[in-house]
Amino acid sequence: MLPQEIIRKKRNKQILSSEEIKEFIAGVTDGTIMDSQTAAMTMAILLNGMTAEETTALTLAMRDSGDIMNWSDLEAPVVDKHSSGGVGDKVSLMLAPMLAACGAFVPMISGRGLGHTGGTLDKLDSIPGYQTTPDNHLFHQTVKDVGCAIIGQTGNLAPADKKIYAIRDVCATVESIELITASILSKKLAAGLQYLVMDLKCGNGAFMDNLADARALAQSIVRVANLAGTKTTALLTDMNQVLGHTVGNALEVQESIDYLKGNHRNTRLHKITMELCAELLINAHLATDKQNALQKLQQALDSGKALEIFARMTKTLGGPTDFCDKPEKYLPQTKIIRPVYAQKTGYISAMQTRNIGLALIELKGGRTRSDQKLDLATGFSRFCQIGDKVDQKTPLCFIHAQSEADFARASENILNNITISETVPTLSAEIIEKIGA
Ligand code: URA
Repeated sequence: MLPQEIIRKKRNKQILSSEEIKEFIAGVTDGTIMDSQTAAMTMAILLNGMTAEETTALTLAMRDSGDIMNWSDLEAPVVDKHSSGGVGDKVSLMLAPMLAACGAFVPMISGRGLGHTGGTLDKLDSIPGYQTTPDNHLFHQTVKDVGCAIIGQTGNLAPADKKIYAIRDVCATVESIELITASILSKKLAAGLQYLVMDLKCGNGAFMDNLADARALAQSIVRVANLAGTKTTALLTDMNQVLGHTVGNALEVQESIDYLKGNHRNTRLHKITMELCAELLINAHLATDKQNALQKLQQALDSGKALEIFARMTKTLGGPTDFCDKPEKYLPQTKIIRPVYAQKTGYISAMQTRNIGLALIELKGGRTRSDQKLDLATGFSRFCQIGDKVDQKTPLCFIHAQSEADFARASENILNNITISETVPTLSAEIIEKIGA
């Protein structure tokens, strides 16, 4: 069918066949379909929606537009997690080695920071020598030998998504649930996963700040992924405060190593990490039930196996051989590390979490332009948590900045975006809801 006739059909709210969707995506990939036609199609999808079957066909066509990884030589389940993004979200750095320690293979393809949220690849860049873009052979071998590898998107994985995403970005069609579903899943399915868990963040530091939107996206992703043959469940998790005690690239790597070593484990971060891991272990039949999964994960931490796997992954991908022994020796540090104190007595009752993510961008730990080089050392450590009792001698956090001017601006940002109340606040649950069986 002519491209304009396929667009016309969707414009007229009709259901597209998988053949029509395949034909359209093949044209996007080989360039025979013009950008203006792709833009028109994304707008028609945004306005008129798609059935789960159409979204599945779109996802599979986009997956098939490039290379598909093959892990058939591995003798255990291939699993991964995807997060919709938050502030202080370093879960991937701990989850991948913990799952590998429990017998799964985790080829994790991560992204860079987006908007006010941080990205796993930027965090890993703070480990000197760590290659976030190894060739396919090294990636495959690392997953096979070590159990996990966290890297960036390789050249030819779901190239149709790359083209469509760039067009959506400038045509006001980013927000379509069907297009987001196909975009996320096409890349995940091209990575050859058998099991996936989605961490759908919900709250004032997430892209979805209301439950209805987060739930709708989670339901769409779970339905389509399962229709496409990858067993998937989703957890809606709270993002109304920073996750863990650090925000900033090198600082979050340090917190992750401390977590794996057992030096310090933030309660909320631990709960979310354990629950996401447990979903995958149960779905992949590596644990019989939740209790069994949590026991295995705790054992992976207590025995030091998860830490050892992180150390081996780092070394295999080019990082220092003793990185986990002495992370402080390698992680970059700022000139100024100083607390900002609460200005009154009371309880931390709320955070404007998105603004805290933006405060990291002001410290150059996140981007304002896509080609920007980050200052990986900057950020916030020992971040307070909702419910903490504070007075004027209590640090809300420590600011890691490179100049007095940056420190002053960051202090103001922190003070303006943390609410202190006289009464004890109600704490929100870390896990809001599970979607999928
Ligand atoms: N992340 C993606 O990869 N794609 C989207 O459309 C939105 C978030």
